[in-house]
Amino acid sequence: MRPTQAPFPATRLRRTRRTPAIRALVAENTLSAADLIWPVFVREGEAVEEPIPSMPGVVRRSVDKVVDAAREAADLGIPAICLFPYTSGENRSKDCAEAWNPENLSNRATRAIKQVVPDIAVMTDVALDPYSDTGHDGFVEGDEIVNDETVEALVKQALSQAEAGVDIIGPSDMMDGRIGAIRHALEMAGHRNVLLLSYAAKYASAFYGPFRDAVGASGALKGDKKTYQMNPANTDEALRLIERDLSEGADMIMVKPGMPYLDICRRAKDAFGAPTFAYQVSGEYAMIMAAAQQGWIDEDRAMMESLMAFKRAGCDGVLTYFAPAVARALA
Ligand code: PBG
Repeated sequence: MRPTQAPFPATRLRRTRRTPAIRALVAENTLSAADLIWPVFVREGEAVEEPIPSMPGVVRRSVDKVVDAAREAADLGIPAICLFPYTSGENRSKDCAEAWNPENLSNRATRAIKQVVPDIAVMTDVALDPYSDTGHDGFVEGDEIVNDETVEALVKQALSQAEAGVDIIGPSDMMDGRIGAIRHALEMAGHRNVLLLSYAAKYASAFYGPFRDAVGASGALKGDKKTYQMNPANTDEALRLIERDLSEGADMIMVKPGMPYLDICRRAKDAFGAPTFAYQVSGEYAMIMAAAQQGWIDEDRAMMESLMAFKRAGCDGVLTYFAPAVARALA
């Protein structure tokens, strides 16, 4: 219970807001570079940094440039980098075999980073959308995104990522049963220390638009993802998904998108106390950047405020395209 507050003027809550020093003393939450996971886009080529128009300031990097980004992140105190491949058309197919090719872009980038910047944690994405010709996260048969066949493919994809040396695997596909299947396969293959950060509560969101441009999936996507990603109307279902994924062997869980779903972050943290992350997704980033470019909001302040919101909501960390900018601002 809260202690009773003396009535005004004995209590003047403005006293604790009077100076920067006092405000710092009574701050309830803190944001640090150690809270950040930086998502980066990987493409073919060498020495390439290709801008993504719908994500001002974000680029697709060739593998050598991704290694530079990993070094920069490590120097800034960012503990983890998350790889998303931009797969060229010829490597997309109905069977999605490129997803478990040991030499695919994601696996090459993982090995390159681990060789040069071994201490940064490398996270990768498990889902078929970068490799499918439909833009869906699973196999499509007729008008159905088939679950169990997809899970078999996701297991192969996860194993190839573990072989390449990733620290954290992030299944973002929302198929049922994939956490248990991947965890079992990792154990059987001796990958006992690979972490699973489950995109447990991932909503069918309009805020992924710029990401789909970034990975080249926008044109390909037929229909929507509502039969596997969550309905934005639901909360209890998010808790059931998180509980299910933790019970199948997830080490950490994620809520995605971030800012419109802070209530889910808070409930998840309170209910399970597991390491809880939010993904401040591409559309959230794009909104802040677009308004800032118009001069309508202050970019740095909006960025910092948006990230503090995740800490306040109980998150242990945030995946954000702002990661290097935040770390520089905090340094
Ligand atoms: C797909 C995936 C998506 C994102 C991460 N992994 C998009 C989608 O589900 O369509 C979105 C990230 C972002 O918008 O920043 N597996």
